Amino acid sequence: MFLKLFIIFFFNLLFQTSSQNINFSYNNGFNPPTDISIQGITTVTPNGLLKLTNTTVQKTGHAFYTKPIRFKDSPNGTVKSFSTTFVFAIHSQIPTLSGHGIAFVVAPNPSLPYGNPSQYMGLFNISNNGNATNHVFAVELDTILSTEFNDTNENHVGININSLKSEKSFTAGWWDEKGLFKNLSLISRKPMQVWVDYDGLSHRIDVTMAPFNEDKPRRPLVSTVRDLASVINQDMFVGFSSATGSVLSEHFVLGWSFGVNGVAPPLALSRLPKLPRFVPRKISDFFKIGMPLISLFLIFSLIFLICFIVRRRRKFAEELDDWEKEFGKNRFRYKDLYYATKGFKEKDLLGSGGFGSVYKGVMPGSKLEVAVKKVSHESRQGMKEFVAEIVSIGRMSHRNLVPLLGYCRRKGELILVYDYMPNGSLDKYLYNNPEVTLNWKQRIKVILGVASGLFYLHEEWEQVVIHRDVKASNVLLDGEHNGRLGDFGLARLYDHGSDPQTTHVVGTLGYLAPEHTRTGRATTATDVFAFGAFLLEVACGRRPIEIQQESDETFLLVDWVFGLWSKGNILGAKDPNMGSEYDEKEVEMVLKLGLLCSHSDPRARPSMRQVLHYLRGDAKLPELSPLDLSGGAMMFGVQDGFSELGMSYSSSVFKGFTGGSSIADSLLSGGR
Ligand SMILES: Nc1ncnc2c1ncn2[C@@H]1O[C@H](COP(=O)(O)OP(=O)(O)OP(=O)(O)O)[C@@H](O)[C@H]1O
Ligand SMILES: *[C@@H]1O[C@H](CO)[C@@H](O)[C@H](O)[C@H]1NC(C)=O
Ligand SMILES: *[C@@H]1O[C@H](CO)[C@@H](O)[C@H](O)[C@H]1NC(C)=O
Ligand SMILES: *[C@@H]1O[C@H](CO)[C@@H](O)[C@H](O)[C@H]1NC(C)=O
Ligand SMILES: *[C@@H]1O[C@H](CO)[C@@H](O)[C@H](O)[C@H]1NC(C)=O
Ligand SMILES: *[C@@H]1O[C@H](CO)[C@@H](O)[C@H](O)[C@H]1NC(C)=O
Ligand SMILES: *[C@@H]1O[C@H](CO)[C@@H](O)[C@H](O)[C@H]1NC(C)=O
Ligand SMILES: *[C@@H]1O[C@H](CO)[C@@H](O)[C@H](O)[C@H]1NC(C)=O
Ligand SMILES: [Mg+2]
Repeated sequence: MFLKLFIIFFFNLLFQTSSQNINFSYNNGFNPPTDISIQGITTVTPNGLLKLTNTTVQKTGHAFYTKPIRFKDSPNGTVKSFSTTFVFAIHSQIPTLSGHGIAFVVAPNPSLPYGNPSQYMGLFNISNNGNATNHVFAVELDTILSTEFNDTNENHVGININSLKSEKSFTAGWWDEKGLFKNLSLISRKPMQVWVDYDGLSHRIDVTMAPFNEDKPRRPLVSTVRDLASVINQDMFVGFSSATGSVLSEHFVLGWSFGVNGVAPPLALSRLPKLPRFVPRKISDFFKIGMPLISLFLIFSLIFLICFIVRRRRKFAEELDDWEKEFGKNRFRYKDLYYATKGFKEKDLLGSGGFGSVYKGVMPGSKLEVAVKKVSHESRQGMKEFVAEIVSIGRMSHRNLVPLLGYCRRKGELILVYDYMPNGSLDKYLYNNPEVTLNWKQRIKVILGVASGLFYLHEEWEQVVIHRDVKASNVLLDGEHNGRLGDFGLARLYDHGSDPQTTHVVGTLGYLAPEHTRTGRATTATDVFAFGAFLLEVACGRRPIEIQQESDETFLLVDWVFGLWSKGNILGAKDPNMGSEYDEKEVEMVLKLGLLCSHSDPRARPSMRQVLHYLRGDAKLPELSPLDLSGGAMMFGVQDGFSELGMSYSSSVFKGFTGGSSIADSLLSGGR
């Protein structure tokens, strides 16, 4: 009976002690978290790391082995030996600062619900810190110096009992075989090993550290003798506590083993899960969100830039041929002209004529005021000759010519740049009830100016230049109201080729000499004819051809003046707007000269040299009577058939022209 009882007791004892000889280890990570309870912000990463805290500030994280550990055989017994080893790592966003650390904990419950974050490391709070009723044994890996707990530095390992004030602590590090101390930085982002051993007999507590892959050093880092009987209850829970402060830090446990009544099973370091490659959060965010955004932005700005450049290229594209090298000085860049006229705005439009529109502009560099004439021109044929002529004319400087500063060529466009004439063109002072009119003195000055300009073109320049488009709107007034001829030779651009079949006569109706329309050839005499019309225009203040709106009748200035002269009242033709101060003889002379220049026979017209003599009074106009000029038949105007020639008129005067008078009839019917 006694033996039986003894055997049962013995076996019971044996069974009890052996069943309490518990040990466990996590070598392959904590995934799935078998027998592990996690609380707070603790998570287990997909690759098995126990991540006690993430980068959330002021939070705690706990992980406990869920099964109770029997530390004592009886409630009042002695604490058995126990041993643990783990590998941890701390990732801080800032390399030099982290918070707040990791603690290995032996606690009465598998949770620490009242543990505060920050310096309390998730273990205690302000009211229970240091209270013996806590029954908490901890080994802290503290990364912050908390003076209130008598910490020695911000990188220490301590043995704590019921309190954050360590029983004993030491700077993190290890003693190598030669007995030399080597610092370890807890926040180095490198994994490190820790061993905690309690000897139940000697009550000695040893904490040892070593870098990853080092064997356990023989000399412990922190060591103290303390009987834990009053701290550790019979059944306790083991685990980890961690907390964050204001510095964003992640605390990891890579592997863990624990054993009572024996040495904790060594960890198989090579099998532990790997730490994530550390990328500071700002950079990772930058790469995750910033990079795509930035590249998208870059791509868009690149596309925009390319579009911009292409559009700009197209917008400012010019045509430049080899032969233009010699005119380089006179060649303008389209871009400059574009900016000078503020993009050829309607606002700056000075007027439009048969060849194109004229814009006012200010050159960007020189601040020179210019008039920019845009002429649309499709064919490139004859362009070289034209440009050559235009430029050579531009080179001559005569006070009665509008200076041509240069030109520019684009696809289908020729652009001519002239000096800006502040007082505009003469036609504005003559017809349509002008606001400002000119007195006779001013008119004769303009007439003389235009005559000497035209004379210069015909005879004084090294070659004969035919203007081809003399008329009031091509006479511009400069600052001193001097008459200046503009648009010289432009008509020629549309009038190229010597083949009479294809030649187009270009000019303005009313200024075109009859033989010009018949033969298509412009001569100095055709210019004189146009000058005659101009003289009558200035003296009478009327256009050479007017179409009466109501009656649809065509008024021909030459016919009218001639008619008045025949009746002996030539002065009746003078412009009533020119005031009363005039020299009757002079007006009469100008009117007669106008008629003489308008003679239908080119041989009967004077040359510009003679015209100048008459105007200056150096020679007397030959005594003429209406009969001399008429010869009983129509002598003036443009009566001979010219509609056989395919004509393109550049004049708006032609629009709505339906005929009426004798001459107009002949114009339309193709002559007699
Ligand atoms: N250099 C200039 N300075 C100031 N204004 C000018 C200048 N050149 C032309 N203009 C203005 O621009 C207007 C239009 O000129 P444009 O030469 O295009 O037409 P037009 O002389 O009436 O006819 P055409 O095409 O037969 O020459 C003119 O009436 C004149 O008011
Ligand atoms: C930290 O972990 C907690 C709990 O898993 C989660 O709610 C929180 O969003 C995490 N914070 C960060 C910054 O990852
Ligand atoms: C344990 O010790 C307490 C006093 O420290 C005592 O009151 C109690 O009876 C003891 N229990 C046993 C089972 O010895
Ligand atoms: C501190 O923890 C104790 C339990 O250990 C709890 O009763 C107390 O309310 C807590 N105090 C604070 C301020 O959290
Ligand atoms: C320790 O905690 C217990 C229970 O939580 C409490 O009754 C006691 O007053 C505390 N002691 C101190 C010194 O705070
Ligand atoms: C903390 O340290 C100070 C001086 O370093 C000392 O006076 C004090 O007693 C210490 N407190 C504890 C609880 O060790
Ligand atoms: C080790 O740490 C201590 C305290 O932080 C410091 O004074 C010492 O310079 C460090 N030594 C090395 C080798 O880093
Ligand atoms: C761990 O415990 C088992 C029995 O549960 C035992 O066989 C093994 O030897 C123990 N290992 C160590 C290192 O104590
Ligand atoms: Mg003009």
